Amino acid sequence: MPRYTKIAMLLHWLVALLIIATFFLGLSMVAIPGFSPTKLKYFSWHKWMGVTVLGLAVIRVLWRKANRPPPPLASIPVWQHKIADGMHYLLYFLIFAVPLSGYFYTYAAGVPVVYLGLWQMPAVIAPDPELKATLKTVHYVLTMTMAAAVVAHALAALKHHFIDRDVTLKRMLPL
Ligand code: HEM
Repeated sequence: MPRYTKIAMLLHWLVALLIIATFFLGLSMVAIPGFSPTKLKYFSWHKWMGVTVLGLAVIRVLWRKANRPPPPLASIPVWQHKIADGMHYLLYFLIFAVPLSGYFYTYAAGVPVVYLGLWQMPAVIAPDPELKATLKTVHYVLTMTMAAAVVAHALAALKHHFIDRDVTLKRMLPL
């Protein structure tokens, strides 16, 4: 059975885990009332994890361009391949757009992003209260779109595995 490359699998599962963790950390941190050292610490972790997703997204796209995925399964109708391709493009777009919107939002709020507490990332925009409010909404909407897309993507993989009993999911598993 032709599978994805080991590097493609590693990038896929690493990005998946990080997205899920960053998502739930984001929801938890904004639910903490007021300001506290713990809240600020969670905000920093959230930003570092999100920036890591962005870095991995760049590596992932470069890897994908150089290494073709295994051929589509003949048992799956063409219309389903088209929907899956559309969903994969949407997910690729979101692994860039979600972290970038958080990054721009942070700089519009006048706060620097210091990756791992060590490196200050470039200030791409000047502080701007109006833009800050817009970008906060953009980050939220894109994040919720990502959550819906990830759930649909995972359900589709599980449907192929348990109902259709084909090798769609196995091709992305190292075992
Ligand atoms: C995969 C990447 C990311 C995901 C899934 C994600 C997800 C989330 C979620 C779920 C929230 C809570 C939204 C709410 O309920 O209001 C949030 C808030 C936030 N995110 Fe992200 N985020 C990501 C990347 C980033 C990055 C890279 C930064 C900045 C460098 C960032 C900065 C923020 C900030 C500052 C907030 C708080 C918004 C507020 O002030 O209420 N995020 N994010």
